[in-house]
Amino acid sequence: MAAIHDLLAQVQDEALRARLEHEIDRLSKTKKFGLVFEEHLPECVPLYDIPVKRGSTVAKKTGTISEMYEVYSINDDVATCYHKVSEEREEIPVEELVCVAEFGEPIYPYLKPIDSICNAPTSDLWHTLIEADNYHALQLLEYLYAEKVDCIYIDPPYNTGAKDWKYNNDYVDSSDEYRHSKWLSFMERRLIIAKKLLNPKTGVLIVTIDEHEVHRLRMLLDQLFPEYYIQMVTYVTSPSGASQGRFSRIEEYAIYCFAKEAYVQAGDDPMIGEVETSTSVRWKSLLRSGPSSTRADRKNMFYPIYIDEKKGVVVEVGEALPFEEEPDFSPVDGHPVIWPVRTDGTLGRWSVGAETFRELVSKGYVQIGRYDEKRNTYGVTYLSSQTQKMIESGDVVITGRDKDTGIVSVEYANSHAQAIRTVWYRTRHNAGSYGTNMISSIIGKERKFSFPKSVYATLDSIYSVVKSNKDALIVDFFAGSGTTQHAVNLMNCLDDGKRRCISITNNEVSENEAAALLEQGFKPGDKEWESYGIARYITWPRTVCSVKGEDINGIPLKGEYLLTERALSDGLESNVSFFKLGFLDQNTVALGRQLKELIPVLWLKAGSIGRCPSIEEVSSMYIFEENQFAILNDEKEFVMFKQKISSNIKVIFFVTDSDAGYREMSSCYEYLTTYQLYSDYLENFRIIVRR
Ligand SMILES: C[S@@+](CC[C@H](N)C(=O)[O-])C[C@H]1O[C@@H](n2cnc3c(N)ncnc32)[C@H](O)[C@@H]1O
Repeated sequence: MAAIHDLLAQVQDEALRARLEHEIDRLSKTKKFGLVFEEHLPECVPLYDIPVKRGSTVAKKTGTISEMYEVYSINDDVATCYHKVSEEREEIPVEELVCVAEFGEPIYPYLKPIDSICNAPTSDLWHTLIEADNYHALQLLEYLYAEKVDCIYIDPPYNTGAKDWKYNNDYVDSSDEYRHSKWLSFMERRLIIAKKLLNPKTGVLIVTIDEHEVHRLRMLLDQLFPEYYIQMVTYVTSPSGASQGRFSRIEEYAIYCFAKEAYVQAGDDPMIGEVETSTSVRWKSLLRSGPSSTRADRKNMFYPIYIDEKKGVVVEVGEALPFEEEPDFSPVDGHPVIWPVRTDGTLGRWSVGAETFRELVSKGYVQIGRYDEKRNTYGVTYLSSQTQKMIESGDVVITGRDKDTGIVSVEYANSHAQAIRTVWYRTRHNAGSYGTNMISSIIGKERKFSFPKSVYATLDSIYSVVKSNKDALIVDFFAGSGTTQHAVNLMNCLDDGKRRCISITNNEVSENEAAALLEQGFKPGDKEWESYGIARYITWPRTVCSVKGEDINGIPLKGEYLLTERALSDGLESNVSFFKLGFLDQNTVALGRQLKELIPVLWLKAGSIGRCPSIEEVSSMYIFEENQFAILNDEKEFVMFKQKISSNIKVIFFVTDSDAGYREMSSCYEYLTTYQLYSDYLENFRIIVRR
């Protein structure tokens, strides 16, 4: 070590000497066993929203982001720049440059609304898709949801050596001798923040991976999550096998990290063995979906069902209506009537005849579901003939009967036999059929996405830990094509859940698309370039189409979902907002405008309830009844503000630089959640680019 210090003393450049000393000091403390890897330089952030000015640190949009320059002057849209290391001077057109934040610099994120889809207008549950580099999105989420997330599911790039991911905006391939340590540095940085998001008692992290990094990942997780219980599931994702010249590989892995009180819920499909039972005992929709589901297909299966909506029971079942007659939708004796109305508003048919249905009602085998505004009617579910047979054979048992409604509760008889195993083999986990093919049937074959998961593999992975938590908050920060959002929508549809999903993906274009765009003269950050990125070209269209139940051309999707027998064309009741994470220039954004830009962040902090609001004018206060939060912008107006706070409001933001003032105001709202915001709003959300 002494020799190194002697050599160090000879380094003339003070800044370089200090950096070297710091690195050597760190290295000397590095442990000599366990997972040892080279930590790589921190990742830089391109800030496309920030104008290039004199003094800015910049990089070339098409170059390596870590090759940085300082802008000395700008004349006629050409910047005179000095390379940060070689100090060579270069004249570069401003439009070819992008501002870059370096290690240690503060940056100010905000969420720019891009689009939204609302297919559950009566629900206040809103999911979120964020287009961003996940490192910065995670830093924002740390402010928003520290210790609040129930399940983080990620499917990161597998580092196969085939240019499947980028480090500091450069593809990492098999020729890169540092590729494993780069991948570990990249993952470590993100997992450290991910851990801060997880509920420390009951949170679960799930990371999928394949043979290329599974062992290193497991060691990294052991190191970062020492107090968690870690277990690995092996699942068959490609039964036909990928031949690699030796064994034919059919499997991938999901590593689960369970906080102390987190468990896998029993009573599910064991995921291996001959019986492909789906999940827990399922109540089937009475409304027929898929092929032969119109009124004309089975005329005698079109009859009215009268209900007591308060109790949630059927009070009478009418006779089949002759085909030539129009149904009457008016209530009878105050009892609403349910007819089989399909999601496109046309008349459908029930799955069983009126006589059989009456028998089911008398046995307590029928449930009335939620009111569905789109169809202007209620859902009806029942125990299918297959489940009834299982009740007769004793495989399913009736565990109770509601004393008011007579409706039964059912469970599999041998829940131990249903405990989920560590090896999963289910055809529905096939990534080809239920990943790649499903995506192309939704957004078309031209839009290619490499390596999506089967929507059912993702559903089963997450459901195993959030089955009984119907309000779970789920985060996926390598969202790719949006499979996790799709799976959460489907999961909520399975059991009437209100689980919320936050997905994050970057807007990377594929290598081929990048080459084609460059040839056409486009650069990263250009509108045309961005429109081919994953978030805009794949994730968002897939989300919108699957929610609406139609493909990219507006044609109803074909087929039925497994597990639910719901037609894909019925869509999924879900509301999703799409944002891009941007960065504000603290010096150029006026204080008044900062709040306007930050409303989506506050909406997320308040639980993303209802459609994300926006504000046009500066006001002393904002009361967002529908979103259940309020902001007091001018503390002098506190008395007036107090009068306006209704019982709907659950979260209040007080803008004040005085800690004592905040304490005084918030003490009036001990039963609500309150937060202090400094009047320089950006300071509240400033994040530091760090290791
Ligand atoms: C293996 S894919 C995930 C696939 C996803 N589970 C699905 O079924 O579609 C990994 C994704 O992570 C995204 N990604 C890679 N690095 C990222 C980063 N730093 N920030 C955000 N997303 C990133 C890539 O765009 C890629 O789509």
